[in-house]
Amino acid sequence: MFTLYQIYMLVTSVGKIRLERPGMVASGIMDETGPSMVRMLRSGAGAVVTKSIGIEPNPGHPNPTFTEVKGGYINAMGLPNPGIELFGKEMEVAAKSGNIIGSIYGANPAEFSKLAVKMEEYGAAAVELNLSCPHATGYGMELGTDPETISSIVSAVKSSVSIPVWTKLTPNTHMIKDLALAVQNAGGDAVVAINTVKSMVISPQFGKPILSNKFGGLSGPAVRSIGVRAVFDIRTVVDIPIVGVGGISDWKDAAQYIMAGACAFQIGSAIGTKGIEVFETINSELERFMKEYGYGSIQDMVGVAHE
Ligand SMILES: Cc1cc2nc3c(=O)[nH]c(=O)nc-3n(C[C@H](O)[C@H](O)[C@H](O)COP(=O)(O)O)c2cc1C
Repeated sequence: MFTLYQIYMLVTSVGKIRLERPGMVASGIMDETGPSMVRMLRSGAGAVVTKSIGIEPNPGHPNPTFTEVKGGYINAMGLPNPGIELFGKEMEVAAKSGNIIGSIYGANPAEFSKLAVKMEEYGAAAVELNLSCPHATGYGMELGTDPETISSIVSAVKSSVSIPVWTKLTPNTHMIKDLALAVQNAGGDAVVAINTVKSMVISPQFGKPILSNKFGGLSGPAVRSIGVRAVFDIRTVVDIPIVGVGGISDWKDAAQYIMAGACAFQIGSAIGTKGIEVFETINSELERFMKEYGYGSIQDMVGVAHE
């Protein structure tokens, strides 16, 4: 249960989107159906980002697609999803219950625009452009490491919808600041950082990569310091809001992202390791920390590590 005071202290906003709590469900975890998204909204998350949705139904990569490693997980799901038309049924259930951010992936500006228009029709509060998935040929990170491509996609989506347009960036680059600037210069409303880190795991017994796709994306505690550094770097070049994601599993992790410059955060892997209670636990412990250290609001903490 939340006290009114707690909700007040934890209120934040990502541009025009007001969040009663600063933590959101990251794309790809407990967000593929309407009922699972509603359940997450009721578990203390301020918003849910949907699984990334494309134009056509996609079965994703064949198994194995997921494995545990020290400090996290490596997945190469291959963006499995039912396609934008069918996903409307899930959005119909979820969007009535709270802030749903529609994550989308496409191969070009026209596809992204079409998907964004649908998400807006379905009641999404914002769209999140997946320009960062490390394991889908022709999509995600393959487009999102070039500032010009980012710019053309963000501009096209911005001129197609009136809801805010967020862009999720990859850490698999030496130029994340240029990518974030490209988002801002194209009129993007927020930057989300980071998606998973391209990685691989080999079975010594089989002498082969474990995942069918060979490469996957690393998530969980192992990527947290990479994500915090990415958010810190991005904060030095853009003024638009930043949403931090990568390896958050407790209030200290969340506070690091906020102090690096994020006004809100997302949680993925820790929903698997800690259960859906992770949001309520972080909310109450973050609030306790804020009271003890004299922070009256999330906004008071944003970017303090730069001062
Ligand atoms: C199983 C799984 C599926 C994911 N699917 C997506 C996806 O569809 N779109 C996306 O943008 N990110 C996806 N991600 C990345 C997460 O949203 C997040 O950026 C990343 O896992 C780092 O956060 P974490 O350490 O809290 O998991 C996925 C991650 C996992 C573990």
